[in-house]
Amino acid sequence: MKHRSGQLFSEQKNGRGSMVGNYRTRICNVLVIGSGGAGLRAAISAHNSGCEVLVIGKRIRNDAHTTLASGGINAALGTVDPQDNWKHHFVDTYQEGYNIGDPRTVEILVKDAPARVEELVSWGAPFAKNSDGKLDQRYFGAHTYRRTCYAGDYTGRAILNTLVSKVEELQIPIIDMTYVSRLLVDTQNGQRRCFGAVGFDINSGQRTVFLSDSVVLAAGGHTRIWRRSSSRRDENTGDAMRLALNAGCRLADMEMVQFHPTGMVHPESLSGTLVTEAVRGEGGRLINSVGERYMEKYDPLRMELSTRDRVALANYTEIQEGRGTENNGVLLDISHVEKGVILEKLPRMYRQFMESQMLDISKGPMEVAPTAHYSMGGVVVDPETHSTGVMGLYAAGECTSGVHGANRLGGNSLAEILVFGKIAGSEASKFSSDLDFQIRSRSVIQEAMDELDDLTTEGEQLARPLQRAVRNIMWNHCGVMRSGKGLEEGLKELMKIKEASSDVDVRPSAEGFSDLALALDLLGSIDSAEATIRSAIARKESRGAHQRSDFPETLKEEAVNYVIELVMEEQVVAKSSVAPLPEELLNAMDEYERPSVDGRLLE
Ligand code: FUM
Repeated sequence: MKHRSGQLFSEQKNGRGSMVGNYRTRICNVLVIGSGGAGLRAAISAHNSGCEVLVIGKRIRNDAHTTLASGGINAALGTVDPQDNWKHHFVDTYQEGYNIGDPRTVEILVKDAPARVEELVSWGAPFAKNSDGKLDQRYFGAHTYRRTCYAGDYTGRAILNTLVSKVEELQIPIIDMTYVSRLLVDTQNGQRRCFGAVGFDINSGQRTVFLSDSVVLAAGGHTRIWRRSSSRRDENTGDAMRLALNAGCRLADMEMVQFHPTGMVHPESLSGTLVTEAVRGEGGRLINSVGERYMEKYDPLRMELSTRDRVALANYTEIQEGRGTENNGVLLDISHVEKGVILEKLPRMYRQFMESQMLDISKGPMEVAPTAHYSMGGVVVDPETHSTGVMGLYAAGECTSGVHGANRLGGNSLAEILVFGKIAGSEASKFSSDLDFQIRSRSVIQEAMDELDDLTTEGEQLARPLQRAVRNIMWNHCGVMRSGKGLEEGLKELMKIKEASSDVDVRPSAEGFSDLALALDLLGSIDSAEATIRSAIARKESRGAHQRSDFPETLKEEAVNYVIELVMEEQVVAKSSVAPLPEELLNAMDEYERPSVDGRLLE
């Protein structure tokens, strides 16, 4: 039995802004949820179109997950390999996504990425340049040409810092440490319309109703819900997916979760932390415990620079078949590369291993294993506008689907957040300009408040252990290799956690309202886990990141997307066909001849 947790809100009589009941109200044209790269790029374009914009982040602004992206951002600039162009980038992305990405979305990405990278450089992003003054581009896995721009192995941090500076220069407010619990959606004549969101300050508990003409959802993915993950605690917990589902959006390709081949295996506290693909781009070799450079067996042509799904599966197989290390990893060795090059191109990796393991990676190999890294599925959006099926609601970045299909090429996510952040922001702003009046529905706001009240109660369960149980379920039953039996078992266990999640103890304490944030993170994790498992059960084949031991073949007729939506509050999964390739791109796919990769692995 749950009880209300004491007096939560003291009336603030001397604050600025309006205060209704136990919440404040803030009003803007475009509300951006998420202060990572996609959110900030959306905010800049909405602002530049003349809108009043507010950005909300659940962490401190310079610390969004974007800061962890390491190795680079793709753009077919052709600065190093002049033969490169957007069509090659298209073919690599679409083909290596196993033909279930959305062709138009991919086309927009690859055509616009060069302009977005150049724009970022003009705003001060410190990307590496060659002696000719042009941007350097490195190899990343499965790219035909060198098209990955970088700032050492701190590319995400460089991008986020640049965007934060730009947002501050434009005086766009960012509200840090605010957790969004619900999108405000009113339904009239069967049409859903989003008019803002409800959030609370994680420190003070202060609730705010954000009223806006339109909303851009850019709140990240759900890969923290696996036991080994490249995300930190409390980020990428599936909150964006929960918000979207509850608002009436559809989620596609949720089973397509990218396992990065190389995460740290120890110490336990850093298990899963990214070991950038740039290590392999700069010549790193994968070796098993019997000294074999085993990628020879899995992809003799591309070796360590094969696609992520193939390298992850290779690492997984080596470990499963007993050729792993004592810590259940494989070895990644870059010690044959000159130390100066390592320090210049992989400074973060050098520090990461030196600080955590006292390992000098210029002298000895790193131990690595697959780690949950990127949500390739997410909210279904229109390719041109990134609008969702809910009027006034747009989405961008990792919480969306469409670009990556069944396997993402490294470096495409940073391109994606800039290209589609910009589009979502400007479309949200157009939506706002076309409105005659802003709506608000007091009953919808009240429901969101009631939800927070219901959650803020004493209970028998704690969120952290339940969250851990979800992570174990996902790792054990929905990891690199899956089976129908395991997935069904995982779903059963997950439903028990769902049941227990209604009795979570949430009470404000010296730590503020972090309990409430954890309880909501747990709900997001459960909803996104359920969507992932249900989609994984439905896809009875193996394709890219979705490998089924009971259905090992890739089937032509399964080149479709699986889509989840809520019907009477239950998740329902359906098949949806992939848009056909336009003729120009069909020809590009036909004409494509993979050039020789000789020499690139010796870099
Ligand atoms: O390995 C990496 O540096 C990751 C890059 C990416 O996920 O795009």
